[in-house]
Amino acid sequence: MTSLTLEPSSVREATRIFLRLVRPRPLADPYPQYRRLRELAPVHPVRLPDLGTAWVAAAHSAVTGLLRHRAFGPLSRDRLDELSPGWRRQPLTSCLYQAMAFQHGPDHRASRGLVSSEFAGRAALAGRPAVVGLAEELLDALERGDGETDLMASLALPFAALSIGRVLGVPDSLALELAPLLRPAGIVFEPLATAAQRALQHEAGDRIVPLLAGLLAARRRDPRDDLVSRLARHPFPGDPLEAERAALGTVAMLFSAGADSPTSLIGLGTRLFLEHPDQAALLRASPSLAPSAAEELLRHDSPVQLVVRTAYEDTVLAGVPVPRDGVVFGLLASANRDPEVVSSPDRFDIARPPVPLLSFGAGPHYCLGAPLARLQAEVLFPRLLRRFPALRSAGAPVYRSPGTMLRSPESLPVALR
Ligand code: HEM
Repeated sequence: MTSLTLEPSSVREATRIFLRLVRPRPLADPYPQYRRLRELAPVHPVRLPDLGTAWVAAAHSAVTGLLRHRAFGPLSRDRLDELSPGWRRQPLTSCLYQAMAFQHGPDHRASRGLVSSEFAGRAALAGRPAVVGLAEELLDALERGDGETDLMASLALPFAALSIGRVLGVPDSLALELAPLLRPAGIVFEPLATAAQRALQHEAGDRIVPLLAGLLAARRRDPRDDLVSRLARHPFPGDPLEAERAALGTVAMLFSAGADSPTSLIGLGTRLFLEHPDQAALLRASPSLAPSAAEELLRHDSPVQLVVRTAYEDTVLAGVPVPRDGVVFGLLASANRDPEVVSSPDRFDIARPPVPLLSFGAGPHYCLGAPLARLQAEVLFPRLLRRFPALRSAGAPVYRSPGTMLRSPESLPVALR
């Protein structure tokens, strides 16, 4: 393959843009920055203060290549030491960074295989009636309220946490106790965060781990027919401490990934409908558009904006050489707006024909919960819009920080009537 030669001025511009994207406070609209990165090159080297040279994949073809290429995998332990120093001593990261999303090759296949078919089976079994029941229950509670609410706290977070909790076998009361801790703990997935943000993450992690350890201990004493009970009794390899970390990491990964991104999808999606009343009216009038609306919400403002990979050997991505140990940021949200694969990509159109969506990733780490997340969006949005035809903004949303990888409103004030 021929190598692409990039001008130093282009590298400087890509670096400036990327540093703007990874600021501790997120940009309200990162999409013009993504567009410029795509215009510069499908993959670009950038020079980062803590990492030295890293690479940014912005075009759809390059991000797909990155996710499917066998030479790339999750951040290596050495890279995690640089980006998240002290992770080995922290209760949450010491478990989570060893779980499936951070594994590669045969270890990853084994960890994913342990839960994937049972998770899919249990999610399908709980299925649409359970998700509909929960949505109706929470919307009933909103109807009884005083007409103004923070939609993240009153709907998005409990809907997502109770849904995943019921699929895994986490009791409702515990799911609701864990829910508010998950948002700061989500910083655990962010590649770049300030020391203060990492401190918040550690504080939340210190509270989450004993709660999950208590649940595992309870299920060992008194097993039930659920996934948490099976994981509690699974013979994970290693000494007792390592085995307990693996069990905790698996449950923490499933619960946190399963609650966090759907919470964000509900927040980002509601905000999109508030900003596009014509599209809200269209979904109210044609609820059969719910599946394509869910895809469009995910495409237009993806809850997971980027993924991070390490090169495990010297390789070439979209014509750009990446050396072994090189770190590459794959901009999913940019790929979803690449005009090479989507026409009029900046238009929000819930009736759009299917597009090759990258919001759930691709390749070996493709999201385990994609069918559940799609179902949640298909069920919730038509009901929310129909129940509250006068739904409107009651103040500016506050976005989560850093929010470089995991984009979401932290609070979303709305008037319901
Ligand atoms: C809107 C909702 C969701 C979005 C946008 C989303 C997005 C993603 C993305 C982009 C990845 C790939 C990360 C990578 O390649 O590095 C991923 C992986 C994963 N997701 Fe989701 N996700 C969502 C919901 C869920 C739900 C409901 C679950 C339920 C448990 C879940 C569990 C997981 C797990 C376990 C992985 C790691 C898979 C692996 O490493 O093999 N996600 N998700």
